[in-house]
Amino acid sequence: MLGFIGLGGVVETAYLPALRRLLPAGVPLWGFDADPARQLAGIERLPTQDALLAKPLAALFITTPPASHWTVLRQALASPVPCILVEKPLVATLAEIDALQSTLADGHDRGRVLALDHWAVRVEGIRDLLDSLPPECRQAAHGPLARIEGYLEEPSGLDELGVPCALNFATGAPDRRQLRHPDGVVLDTGTHVLALLRECMALLGQALDLQLTLATMNDRRDVPIAPGDHQTAEGRASLQGRLGGVPVSIRLDKYAGVAGGRKGLTLYGEQGWQLSLDRQGDEDRIVWQQGAQRVSLRRPGAIYGHALAEVLGVSGGLDAAQRQAMTARRLEEVRLLLQLQQDWRGEPT
Ligand SMILES: NC(=O)c1ccc[n+]([C@@H]2O[C@H](COP(=O)([O-])OP(=O)(O)OC[C@H]3O[C@@H](n4cnc5c(N)ncnc54)[C@H](O)[C@@H]3O)[C@@H](O)[C@H]2O)c1
Repeated sequence: MLGFIGLGGVVETAYLPALRRLLPAGVPLWGFDADPARQLAGIERLPTQDALLAKPLAALFITTPPASHWTVLRQALASPVPCILVEKPLVATLAEIDALQSTLADGHDRGRVLALDHWAVRVEGIRDLLDSLPPECRQAAHGPLARIEGYLEEPSGLDELGVPCALNFATGAPDRRQLRHPDGVVLDTGTHVLALLRECMALLGQALDLQLTLATMNDRRDVPIAPGDHQTAEGRASLQGRLGGVPVSIRLDKYAGVAGGRKGLTLYGEQGWQLSLDRQGDEDRIVWQQGAQRVSLRRPGAIYGHALAEVLGVSGGLDAAQRQAMTARRLEEVRLLLQLQQDWRGEPT
């Protein structure tokens, strides 16, 4: 039995299609949404959050907007639900990170929470590609890195005034919601790129320490966000620094135009190889290249499908120690991104 708190766009367009494919018919899905009008076919809606938390849930997904994640998570932790999966970003302020970290210092609660970033499981495609490489290439891939690039550049359209407008991440239809800080690219999509980069580094046995600075942070018209501005969402940002001691550059762009759409990473090895992961259509493409040698792999299907298969145990599953380690990594990343935003914009008044 699975539960959802928050029955919005991501549940409708990403979770439900994936769960319909993954779960046997008849697995009960229960949900609660603060908006009484919000109903989703396939999820039985309960009148209160307490009524949902009283159900014998195997897992609970927190899929409310980021600003309410911490409040809802705290309440869920007081229930007996054994596994609580929180959408990204895990929490929305530095104060909430502190509060969550002290809550998770309790060993029991630590293993119950998974910061769910569906990009983290894309690393499984990289693992599969590495397994298919000749032994000498596989060995090289675990060797020293020269540099790392991460990117999430989303296709966009233009609104009636000719200003760039976002497209729904699942359907591609124009998304006319007015984004406000903190829902700009630094936190909203920087979380995905950092999750992927760090899970990839963990897979390769590389160090995970992360130092980043924000090089640029602009609005959707490409105007720099001014210090003291706590309203305007970032539409584009670039970050630079080091990951595991290796130079890293990250490009985040919600308004990359009709041709935009790079979503992944490229690693450059000191021995001249490149390993890249990108998204094309409905599949991940992973490519290894060294001189004339090129090996590629396609991983079809929605990323959410793979992520939910992993976290629900349909394809292997995560034990409590893995959940704990992933959550700790996501917490470090969200803390860093929130700190960078605050350093740029100034402390909220
Ligand atoms: N991984 C991704 O690519 C991706 C994509 C979209 C959204 N998300 C994440 O999923 C979460 C939800 O995003 P969305 O696009 O579905 O948002 P949404 O605004 O479409 O839906 C959120 C829903 O939560 C409900 N809600 C708000 N506060 C609540 C509360 N305290 N208790 C119960 N219900 C509450 C709202 O009424 C709404 O129906 C966010 O954390 C977002 O960052 C992730």
